[in-house]
Amino acid sequence: MNGDLLQKITIRGLELDDLDAIVEIDYKVLGTRRPSYWHQKIEDMTNEHPSKSFVAEHDGTVVGFIMGTVSGWEFGVPNTIGWIDTIGVDPDYQKKGVAITLFKAILDEFKKDGVENIYTLVRWEDWDLMCFFKAIGFTRGDMINLEYRIK
Ligand SMILES: CC(C)(COP(=O)(O)OP(=O)(O)OC[C@H]1O[C@@H](n2cnc3c(N)ncnc32)[C@H](O)[C@@H]1OP(=O)(O)O)[C@@H](O)C(=O)NCCC(=O)NCCS
Repeated sequence: MNGDLLQKITIRGLELDDLDAIVEIDYKVLGTRRPSYWHQKIEDMTNEHPSKSFVAEHDGTVVGFIMGTVSGWEFGVPNTIGWIDTIGVDPDYQKKGVAITLFKAILDEFKKDGVENIYTLVRWEDWDLMCFFKAIGFTRGDMINLEYRIK
């Protein structure tokens, strides 16, 4: 069944026109509509060439997205780093392999740029994300998230 669905999933580059669909997926996942936040993020992500951000479509509807960038020499890290900024799948399409398909697309792009390591940040309580990244082979990295609370 998942195989049937996956055959109908197409992956293409993220565009500004995907804003509404992404706002709705975020709303279904987290319960808040944040159009300006996503507008800014999509603009930033689509400024990267070649883009490292993709959407998954089913019957012409966006059902998932992944956004990433490539950087080098940040945090004193010498190699070219691929960053996964955000991933989200419409809850009606979760657990069917959509996120893995999106990950394979970004992985291919990262490889073309000579990326050797992929980083992402996940909040401790985000178990869906934690389980997903662990399932596809991510392990705990060697950087520590530091925080200074002003109030
Ligand atoms: C994490 C997330 C991207 C996974 O998407 P998905 O399409 O359901 O993932 P896949 O079906 O490709 O799963 C791949 C593997 O990850 C694992 N996995 C995914 N979600 C999991 C979960 N909730 N619990 C345990 N394992 C999970 C499974 O092992 C799965 O492999 P399997 O099908 O062989 O069991 C999705 O749950 C999501 O979008 N969560 C919300 C993330 C978020 O807050 N994003 C920002 C706002 S939109």
